[in-house]
Amino acid sequence: MIGWVADWWRGGRTAIEPASQRDAARLAQLHGASFHRGWGEGEFEVMLSERNTLVHRLRHGRKVVGFAVSRMAADEAELLSIAIDSTQRGRGLSRDLLLTHLGHLAGRGVRKVFLEVEENNRPARRLYDWAGFEVVGRRERYYQQAGGEQLNALLMRRDLS
Ligand SMILES: CC(C)(COP(=O)(O)OP(=O)(O)OC[C@H]1O[C@@H](n2cnc3c(N)ncnc32)[C@H](O)[C@@H]1OP(=O)(O)O)[C@@H](O)C(=O)NCCC(=O)NCCS
Repeated sequence: MIGWVADWWRGGRTAIEPASQRDAARLAQLHGASFHRGWGEGEFEVMLSERNTLVHRLRHGRKVVGFAVSRMAADEAELLSIAIDSTQRGRGLSRDLLLTHLGHLAGRGVRKVFLEVEENNRPARRLYDWAGFEVVGRRERYYQQAGGEQLNALLMRRDLS
């Protein structure tokens, strides 16, 4: 299913769609530019082939500018990653992506969604708060930075009705 969500310049349109194997390289590029430990193209290829993994892409015109990945088990899912191209952040695009992704998880029978987020990741915290996630746990010094710094993780949960 295609969800048209915005029309923000010169008729350029944004769509949220299931990702396919052909997106693996671009998704790895986006992930690598967004996270300290990037996932490679091969890792995305594996995830895209798994029945219990849901991957959506955010496309603007012909260009993929974001993605969301979740892994499902029974009626629970973990949002493993969500990212927007750095040049497109701050436009609220992740909101439509996340809500569409959650809607598809609900359609697959998921009732509870969990995620982990670095405590000081303000944009992500704002997004998840807005989407109705609640903090249900905290893991001290969970993330190890390249420079040796250790950062706390919050575990968040949202129930889908
Ligand atoms: C998190 C992310 C997906 C949000 O995508 P986005 O489309 O830019 O999100 P939005 O434009 O809706 O902005 C989200 C909120 O963060 C705020 N924000 C944006 N940049 C910010 C910054 N540098 N500092 C503080 N807040 C910021 C926005 O104002 C917005 O808050 P609001 O809802 O109160 O207005 C995007 O920043 C990203 O890809 N980050 C890198 C990957 C990442 O950290 N993913 C989450 C891992 S858990």
